[in-house]
Amino acid sequence: MSTIRLEGIVKRYGASVAAQIARLEIGDGEIVSLLGPSGCGKTTTLRIVAGLIEQDEGDLWFGDRLVNDVPPERRNAAMVFQNYALFPHMTVRQNIAFGLEVRKLPRREIDRRVDAVLDLVKLPGTGDRLPKQLSGGQQQRIAIARAVATEPDVLLFDEPLSNLDAKLREYMRFELRKLLETLKVTTLYVTHDQAEAMVISDRIVVMDKGAIVQLDTPHRVYRDPATRFVAEFVGTASFFEGRVESWSAADGRGVVATADGLRLVGRGGALRPGDAVVLCARPEAIELHPAGGFAAGDHAGVVEAIVDLGEMVDFHVRIGRWVVRTRTLGGPRPGGQGEAVAVRIDPERCYVVPA
Ligand SMILES: Nc1ncnc2c1ncn2[C@@H]1O[C@H](COP(=O)(O)OP(=O)(O)OP(=O)(O)O)[C@@H](O)[C@H]1O
Ligand SMILES: [Mg+2]
Repeated sequence: MSTIRLEGIVKRYGASVAAQIARLEIGDGEIVSLLGPSGCGKTTTLRIVAGLIEQDEGDLWFGDRLVNDVPPERRNAAMVFQNYALFPHMTVRQNIAFGLEVRKLPRREIDRRVDAVLDLVKLPGTGDRLPKQLSGGQQQRIAIARAVATEPDVLLFDEPLSNLDAKLREYMRFELRKLLETLKVTTLYVTHDQAEAMVISDRIVVMDKGAIVQLDTPHRVYRDPATRFVAEFVGTASFFEGRVESWSAADGRGVVATADGLRLVGRGGALRPGDAVVLCARPEAIELHPAGGFAAGDHAGVVEAIVDLGEMVDFHVRIGRWVVRTRTLGGPRPGGQGEAVAVRIDPERCYVVPA
């Protein structure tokens, strides 16, 4: 096992910067995801760690070993790709054994490890099949087994589940998390799927335009997004732009006033009265009540749209010039389309970030 440390890493293509990681440290046995939209530099960063791309600037450390000039095959890192990258003409057993034969392990040890990793990914007895005789999900598990068999210090994943259908992808997230917990190998995991990152990771690195925007636990990334971009990318949120009216540094909360006269309470970091801010309200922060049931602090709203998703119902509600989104479980509805409602917003689930 090994920690991974990136310091002042920069990778450019011509004039454009593909990745710039000022500092990132992944603990021993920790599972960290790189999460962000297409083109934000996730694969570039991962490939720099793997040694498949050379950085223009900065240092990369595995534990206390500076690996800048260490070739990929000597970094003891194993990578799992989106397209599985299995050898089609080799059996499952031969695929998994390949990396072990390259390392010249004794035959008996190779056989032992192949059987062990096939058990680990819950595909015992498939050793003699060709990859094409397995489903996509099974092929991906073989690719994972092949990576794990070399007993790497570091595991690297690049969107390993994105070729699977939605149902299988959701199932595999949990399976993979369980597997990684058993292995306790330091893992860097690339995905653009926020739900996947939430399930898989101990900590999430949210990236935008090549750089880290936030590095935090899944819970904190969701609850205390550093910027509007993070709030928008991870989960759903409604936004109110305004200025801080009053702020208590001690409580980390205060009042935001919008130009059209709404006053909303939220939590946040170090802010001061007059700061231009955005208040991000999660769907679960917003409760709808029949228009007759107004309480102090409620806002007058009108239901603009209702989207029935079966297990949940999505509401788009207009409050003055703002449209917010909230959800209820199936069951009685607080108002139909076009109806007036009382909107109650829970300050605990609103986070205020600089505009
Ligand atoms: N070989 C290359 N030559 C020129 N530009 C490149 C090259 N590889 C990547 N880039 C650019 O670097 C940026 C980051 O690319 P990267 O592949 O790291 O993104 P990503 O976050 O993995 O995106 P995706 O989710 O689409 O896989 C992009 O703007 C991309 O166009
Ligand atoms: Mg990529």
